[in-house]
Amino acid sequence: MLKTKILPPNSEGISEAARLLKSGEVVGIPTETVYGLAADATNPEAVAKIFLAKGRPQDNPLIVHIAALESLETYVKDIPAIAYTLAEHFWPGPLTMVLPKREIIPDITSGGLSTVGIRFPSNKLAREVISACGKPLAAPSANLSGSPSPTTAQHVFDDMNGRILSILDGGACTVGLESTVVSFEGEGIRLLRPGFVSLEDLLAVTQNVVTDDGILNMLPEGARVLSPGMKYKHYSPRANVTLVEGDLSKFTKFVSEQGGDGVISMLFDSDCDGFPFENLTFGDTASAQAFNVFAKLRECDALGAKSVFVRSPDRRGVGLAVYNRLLRAAGFKVVKL
Ligand code: TXA
Ligand code: MG
Repeated sequence: MLKTKILPPNSEGISEAARLLKSGEVVGIPTETVYGLAADATNPEAVAKIFLAKGRPQDNPLIVHIAALESLETYVKDIPAIAYTLAEHFWPGPLTMVLPKREIIPDITSGGLSTVGIRFPSNKLAREVISACGKPLAAPSANLSGSPSPTTAQHVFDDMNGRILSILDGGACTVGLESTVVSFEGEGIRLLRPGFVSLEDLLAVTQNVVTDDGILNMLPEGARVLSPGMKYKHYSPRANVTLVEGDLSKFTKFVSEQGGDGVISMLFDSDCDGFPFENLTFGDTASAQAFNVFAKLRECDALGAKSVFVRSPDRRGVGLAVYNRLLRAAGFKVVKL
């Protein structure tokens, strides 16, 4: 079997990644959010390899990554003024804007949609790779479809060994969960996926923000889906995940009633003193939880968990994104104590 190569975060690693990408191959690359499975966004054969490696449904569109604001208009058109304002505030960084695509972006990249998600990442290696290959890079998160997003090169290797040629190792991603995704309605914006750029951050720029129903609710069968990624069960370890709302004492009692074998609790750091059952902690602040959440879900699998009970996080700021990912990891199973 082909063994996937890990490339070092230096000029040789960057040149090798760029060479592979230019020749139509798929490479795992770091970004500030999560690792991406990158290919030349303008090359349909290269993009097809992403869907194959990931096992991703073909109607789920990819995000296109650019390395300079000036190239925005090469790939998308009819850009509203508010999009430039958002770019000024949040680019380079973890914000994706859905805009009408130009023909240079093939249909396979946009999942057949007339729009495409576009992002200018802040991660230095990501930008250097994009610049070195001279192409915009289509990149979904570099996990197997459905499993937790990868935040280290090792996570990518665990999912993709034998499926792609190389991974550029940029260390742990600083944000830890995927970018905020917005679309535009007139001069207003719609939040399709919460991320490190929070609802509060967006509201500080414009009051004209609508939060999509798909963020906190399971979409009914047949509903018109604005962000196709919202349709799928997502971010899930093999273990059965349940989100648990209620204070620590109720949580402890609840876990004690679950029959201990293969049960792991995911707690806040401040909870763990004296907690009597097997547990992992995923941080106290929302940004620490964002950084840890996917790595900890993967660790639950490595520990052989059958059931994972997760303390439900605060939903303010970045917390909304943490909650949104956990809700999907749990397949919307929430217990209110
Ligand atoms: O942080 C990120 O965004 C990472 C890194 C690698 O940049 N990428 C990422 O890609 O999370 P992915 O494919 O795992 O998630 C993309 C999300 C999906 O929910 C998809 O449906 C939505 O963005 N999306 C992409 N293009 C869209 C479009 N044209 N219209 C609506 N939603 C779109
Ligand atoms: Mg993903």
